[in-house]
Amino acid sequence: MEKLLKLAIFISALYEVHANWMYLGLSSVGVVPVPDSCGRIPGLVQPQLEVCQNNPEALPCVSEGARRGIIECKNQFKFERWNCTTNSRNSSVFGPVLHQGTRETAFIYAITSAGVVHAVTQSCSAGNLTDCACDVSKAGLPTPEGWTWGGCSDNIKYGMQFGKKFVDAPERYRRNLGTTRERVRIMMNLHNNEAGRKIIQAGMKTECRCHGVSGSCAIKTCWKVMPTFSEVGALLKDKYEKSVEIAPRAKRKLRRRERQRRRVPIKDTEIVHIAASPNYCRANSKNGILGTKGRECNKRSRGADSCNLLCCGRGYNTETIFNKSHVCSLELFGHGLVNLKHTT
Ligand SMILES: *[C@@H]1O[C@H](CO)[C@@H](O)[C@H](O)[C@H]1NC(C)=O
Ligand SMILES: *[C@@H]1O[C@H](CO)[C@@H](O)[C@H](O)[C@H]1NC(C)=O
Ligand SMILES: *[C@@H]1O[C@H](CO)[C@@H](O)[C@H](O)[C@H]1NC(C)=O
Ligand SMILES: *[C@@H]1O[C@H](CO)[C@@H](O)[C@H](O)[C@H]1NC(C)=O
Repeated sequence: MEKLLKLAIFISALYEVHANWMYLGLSSVGVVPVPDSCGRIPGLVQPQLEVCQNNPEALPCVSEGARRGIIECKNQFKFERWNCTTNSRNSSVFGPVLHQGTRETAFIYAITSAGVVHAVTQSCSAGNLTDCACDVSKAGLPTPEGWTWGGCSDNIKYGMQFGKKFVDAPERYRRNLGTTRERVRIMMNLHNNEAGRKIIQAGMKTECRCHGVSGSCAIKTCWKVMPTFSEVGALLKDKYEKSVEIAPRAKRKLRRRERQRRRVPIKDTEIVHIAASPNYCRANSKNGILGTKGRECNKRSRGADSCNLLCCGRGYNTETIFNKSHVCSLELFGHGLVNLKHTT
């Protein structure tokens, strides 16, 4: 009860119109809400409230899923100009970045959606949810390779259904409202939510165990497991790099912006965006951009964390930190904005 009270206080502190279910990932909701209290959780739309009321034990899974998504997003972007900034005091969590329709927006939808599937599916396998359990549909069946399916495969089907019902609800709720552009944005969000789920499904692996005298593999049992969440993050990051730009108009299906490639279907596992990304170099509070001032870059890198890319060509300060914790500033540029630290 005390925990629940803490949750209620945490949530009311966050309360505002921009609230979004993803903020559940910022709260450490290890508690199962009492169904009556679901209505007091802000930012949930009606179908989500129903899930909370009918299935309150699943809510900690949603929190855990969102949390995984947020942590993995930060991990995948730690060396980039936009580093998946969240604001723990703001229940919109990602701030205006969510409204922009860029590939960063797309990644956030996909990774948080994937997080929910991952957390729910794991809970099913652990026997923590009453509505689902391991997938035993193939248990005991032999395979052409001569091994046998084991009893507990990850029940990705339930996780995906649950995710679709919960995570897609806000978009489905307002699907037929708004201008053409807004409707395309909703379709974009739904597509990216689905991409997050499908990436996990596509990444399912087979794990096996051998039984038999002193480790001989006379009998082999196998089952299906989901990829680890950091694998999911890496797969989605790759999709982010190749994100497909979509046309601002669409009827029933999203279309590629690029005319020459219109006929190439957009895959379920691809991420899509509608707006070009800003360069994230300079701070812009209206758009929720912090800029890269003060970030640490890596002089030896040729990637996103290289000083040239991270500092947007503005130059940087070199700070040599000696082991005796000497700090020397060696070069000072007019716009010298980024510290380069290395230890000697
Ligand atoms: C939270 O973010 C929204 C935009 O996403 C902004 O309008 C609002 O002012 C922010 N609130 C706080 C307390 O920072
Ligand atoms: C299942 O529940 C137990 C006890 O509440 C918890 O320790 C464990 O982390 C849960 N496992 C998953 C995968 O949710
Ligand atoms: C992310 O970027 C912000 C703004 O540039 C910076 O303050 C923060 O330390 C960065 N976070 C990490 C983990 O590097
Ligand atoms: C710094 O010095 C300590 C002991 O003086 C040593 O153990 C450590 O490895 C040094 N660190 C680096 C990065 O050289």
